[in-house]
Amino acid sequence: MGWWLRGGALLALCATVAVLLCAPSGPHFRLVIDASFGQAAIQADGPALAPLIVLTEAAQQSGAVCLDGSPAAYYFQPGTGAGAHNWIIHFEGGGWCTSLEDCVLRAGDSLGSSHGWPRTRHLTGHLSRDPAVNPDLHTWNAAYLPYCDGASFAGNVSQPQSSGGQSVFFRGAAILDAVLADLMHRGLHTAQRVLVTGCSAGGLAAYLHCDYVAARVGGGAVTKCMPDAGFFMDAPDVWGQRRMEGLFRAAVEMHNVLGNVNEACVAALPARDAWKCFYAPYSASFVQAPLFIVNPLFDTWQIANLVLGGRAAPEWDGCRYSLAGCTREQGAVLRAFADQLAARALSTLAAASGDGAFLFSCFLHCPNLDNDDWWQQLTIGGTALREAAADWVLDRGGDHFHVDKTSDYERGTNPSCGISV
Ligand SMILES: *[C@@H]1O[C@H](CO)[C@@H](O)[C@H](O)[C@H]1NC(C)=O
Repeated sequence: MGWWLRGGALLALCATVAVLLCAPSGPHFRLVIDASFGQAAIQADGPALAPLIVLTEAAQQSGAVCLDGSPAAYYFQPGTGAGAHNWIIHFEGGGWCTSLEDCVLRAGDSLGSSHGWPRTRHLTGHLSRDPAVNPDLHTWNAAYLPYCDGASFAGNVSQPQSSGGQSVFFRGAAILDAVLADLMHRGLHTAQRVLVTGCSAGGLAAYLHCDYVAARVGGGAVTKCMPDAGFFMDAPDVWGQRRMEGLFRAAVEMHNVLGNVNEACVAALPARDAWKCFYAPYSASFVQAPLFIVNPLFDTWQIANLVLGGRAAPEWDGCRYSLAGCTREQGAVLRAFADQLAARALSTLAAASGDGAFLFSCFLHCPNLDNDDWWQQLTIGGTALREAAADWVLDRGGDHFHVDKTSDYERGTNPSCGISV
C-alpha cells in the first residue's frame, strides 16, 4: 500500500477523532512519513536533472501539504558561476479545484498529491541548464514548484475539510512559505536577482505572490515577475454568462485565499469586491515589482473556458484552435477578445516602473517559458521570447513592450506559432 493510502486512512481517522488523536500535538498536520520518500541530496556538479526536495518537516510543523495531506516538495537545481546569486522561482499550473468534491478528486492525482512525483525533473526553456537553449539564464538557481494545492499557492484553511469520508487540505500559502524558507537556507537570502515565473494557474500565482516574494527576499535583491498565460480575464462568455466568475468566487471562499493575494489590491477594493484580487487583471495593477506579462492573445484555455464558458458548443469546434475554421462573426469575437486581453494587460503596466510585455498572437496556452521550443521560437518583430525576456530581466536594451496586433498578420496569427521543430 502506498504512502498516501496509509496517509489517507490516517487523515480519515483524524477527521473522526480529531480532538483525541490529532489536536494535542499542536500542529493540525500530524502525518506519517515514509522514510523511503525522504530528502533528496543536492549536488552542484550532479547530472542536469533537478532533484525533488520533499519538505517533510514543514509538512508536519506548518501544514505545508498538498490537497491529500502529502508533504509539499519542489525541484531545485543550484546556480553556478555568474548565476550563483540569481534565482528563478517557477510555479507550475493546472487549473483550480473550486468545490470540495472537485478537490477530493484532485487529491487522488499528481495535481493534488506529491506522492508519485518523479524524483528528478529535466528543466526546460527559461529554466534549462543548456546554454544553447537558454543562453542568459542557464546558470541561475532554478526552483520548480509543482502544483498540488488547487488554488494557485494561495489557500489557507487551518483544518482539513471532508467530503464523502475523504479529507482535503487547503494549504497553498503554507507550501509557498515552506519552499521560500527552504530556499533561504540554500542561499536565496543573498540573492542579487530573483525572477518569479509560472504558467496558467502558476502564472496567476506569479501575479498574486510577486510582491510577497519580493518582500520575503528583501531589498538586497532586485525581484521581478514574469507570469506566463496567467492573465485570466473577467469577461462574460459569448452568451453573456459569467461561469468562470462563479468558479473563481467559490475557490476564493473555499480556499480562504484573500490573506495571500496581492495585499495592496485587497486593501484598495471594497470588501465585497476583494475576491476580484484573485484575478490577474486586478492584482497586476497593484504589483510593485517590475512585471513582464507573457501571454498568448488567442489563449486557448481562455477561449474554451471563458469565451465559450466551458460549453461543448460544436458550432465552435472549427474555431477553437485556429482562425482558419471560424466564421466571420466567430473570428471577430476571438479577435475582439484577443485585443481586449492585450489592452487590459497593457493598462496594468508602465514602462517607468520597469515593466514589459510579450503578448503574441498565437492559439496557445501553456507553457511558453518553460518549454524549449516556444522559449526559442516565439518571435515578435524579429525578437525571440527568450531574448525579449532576458533583455528585460537583465536590464538590457530599451523598449520592453513586444505586442502583436491581431491585424498584424495575414491570417491573424503570428507566423512563429506555426513553426514546429
Ligand atoms: C494563515 O492563517 C493563519 C490564521 O489566520 C495565520 O496565522 C497564518 O499566518 C496564515 N498564513 C499561512 C501561510 O499559514
